[in-house]
Amino acid sequence: MSNELYIRSDRIFTADPEKPVLFDGYIKIVDDKIDALLTVNEADIPDGVKVHDYTGHLVTPGFIDAHTHLVHAGSRHHELGAKLRGESYLDIHEMSGILYTVRKTRDASYEALYERSKATLQRMLACGVTTLEAKSGYGLDKETEIRCLEVARDLNGYQWIDIESTFMGAHAIPPEFEGRPDDYLDYLIKDVLPVIKRKRLARFVDVFCEDKFFTIEQSERFLKAAKEMGFLLKIHADEITSSGGAELAAKLGCVSAEHLMAVSDKGIKDMAKAGTVACVLPNTTYFLMEDTYAPVKKMLKEGVTLAISTDYNPGSSPTENIQFAMALAVFMMKMNPVDVLLAVTRGAAAAIDRHDIGQLKEGYLADIFVSYSRDPDQLFYRPGSNQTKRVFKKGKMVYRGTAVPHILH
Ligand code: NIG
Ligand code: FE
Repeated sequence: MSNELYIRSDRIFTADPEKPVLFDGYIKIVDDKIDALLTVNEADIPDGVKVHDYTGHLVTPGFIDAHTHLVHAGSRHHELGAKLRGESYLDIHEMSGILYTVRKTRDASYEALYERSKATLQRMLACGVTTLEAKSGYGLDKETEIRCLEVARDLNGYQWIDIESTFMGAHAIPPEFEGRPDDYLDYLIKDVLPVIKRKRLARFVDVFCEDKFFTIEQSERFLKAAKEMGFLLKIHADEITSSGGAELAAKLGCVSAEHLMAVSDKGIKDMAKAGTVACVLPNTTYFLMEDTYAPVKKMLKEGVTLAISTDYNPGSSPTENIQFAMALAVFMMKMNPVDVLLAVTRGAAAAIDRHDIGQLKEGYLADIFVSYSRDPDQLFYRPGSNQTKRVFKKGKMVYRGTAVPHILH
């Protein structure tokens, strides 16, 4: 017996380019999928079928966080003083940074990483996230990278958020390979990537292409090797310095290029042409106390598909709150609310190569966010207040908001 359910609202933001908004209608859900979007006149609801009426509440696809470093251990709150004194991310990297987290993560058991990541996922669900991408990259050796990816794999299916995994062993150069980045990449290519592939622990491979991490040439060599093994590609590009990372992403056919605060105009054009998604991460600019946000207006003008994500990680964005990233996109990047919603739904789905989520459309998974607010502008009216009234994952109500709703009139 199939399970039928209807969700009603007077503002259903579908993110479907053919029919972006339904003013007063129903989402008909059968089992885990959307069966139809119906106007009030079209709907013929049989007696006894469950209807959730969210009239007065904006309904959107569940949010997709397309860039997180979910699995890691430890905290880096001790970096705050250095940041307040004006030390840069790259300076801080010398004394703490990614390698500090690598030490903590190597020391952490599977169980500790699992429990911590599970708690993070619960907080993300409360922000409206129904799917996310999780990168490894705090192990930097075969054993720990595999442990982190196994945690992500095992959490997928044992809590509500679906997880797409990315192998990011090329996140930094571990102490064993200090001063020998090419040897480290050889080790990843020969000893680690084949195991990740065989165990099917990741669909994507990512590399931190940046001064003091991996050069353009090294990133290209590594990504090409990963592509030959059948991985889809991502790249942390032009985050701090403009080094041609976006151009490389376009050249190699990366699914997405991420960060892009320092992207060049040519990089933007190349991405538009290649269909590479720009995954921008405003939390990171904010948390690093920088002034430069990714040039989203230029990207949109050139026709680049945009995703907005948290970059959840212990160093440059310890907040898992996607609504915070969305608010920064509006208030710091001056994006309009509808473009922001598209970037955490349809755009973010493109960034993780998913074609069954990110829109409220027949055949898509019934992953749905219900807001306390009644329209996209109101969603951004009280930044800092959680706007999640309900979350549905694959047709099941999996989260009920606990906020005291604002009186809206
Ligand atoms: O995406 N840029 C590289 N990696 C992370 C930061 C990692 C860290 O500082 O621990 C990022 O911002
Ligand atoms: Fe990142």
